[in-house]
Amino acid sequence: MKQFFHSSIGRKFIVAITGLFLLLFVTIHLLGNLSIFLGPVVMNAYAARLHQLGALLWIARLGLIALVGLHLFFTLTLWKENRAASPRAYARDQILERTLYARSMRLSGLVILGFLLFHLAQFTWKWTNPEYQQWQDSLGQHNVYRMVTTAFHNPWVSGFYLLSVGLLAMHLAHGIESLFQTLGLTNQKFRYYFQCFGRFAACFFFLGYASIPVAVFLKMIPSS
Ligand code: HEM
Repeated sequence: MKQFFHSSIGRKFIVAITGLFLLLFVTIHLLGNLSIFLGPVVMNAYAARLHQLGALLWIARLGLIALVGLHLFFTLTLWKENRAASPRAYARDQILERTLYARSMRLSGLVILGFLLFHLAQFTWKWTNPEYQQWQDSLGQHNVYRMVTTAFHNPWVSGFYLLSVGLLAMHLAHGIESLFQTLGLTNQKFRYYFQCFGRFAACFFFLGYASIPVAVFLKMIPSS
């Protein structure tokens, strides 16, 4: 076990597996957020259901924190190791690193982390706008719909979200391609197809997440 955590393959595997679970979270979160297009009743009911999960929600939250922590920690140790190693030993990685997506992994990861902290401060802890805490709909549920639509009327907030989900998409494009490589599911012949799949999936995430601030900002969905 100790050897596994110390080997570069072992650590790459952990980065890949934690990335896979984070990808799962990003997919579920996107599908949940898209309920905004079904109106306030559906979105607020969805959020209320999540909160009713109680202890399970906390387990999921702790799991998420652990995943982010492990993903970050092992990425950083691999990066340090790659820098110290001879270029020849990492020739295979360097082929991947030629793409813009690969070269921007550290920058996109950093912006996503910053975005996440802002996002939690805004919508989960409500530090940026404490009044969100009091907003309830006619059914007495927390008015998540009003919170999101109000927040995205601010062009700076919408702009920051667009930039962040753009970088998230770039991060995922390369992450998904690398995931297949690390798990040994690809070879030189199929690499192109996995690369296309990663980019296609990234477009899906970008369009999905970006559609919300854009639709709110352009008043395509009513604010509550
Ligand atoms: C348009 C884009 C997004 C919208 C509208 C949105 C909306 C929300 C809302 C409303 C909450 C609070 C839910 C509640 O407590 O009731 C939330 C929580 C959260 N969001 Fe997002 N989100 C977006 C993008 C993202 C992205 C891209 C990520 C990850 C990179 C993310 C990660 C999280 C996390 C980790 C939480 C905390 C979950 C929890 O408290 O259990 N969100 N989001």
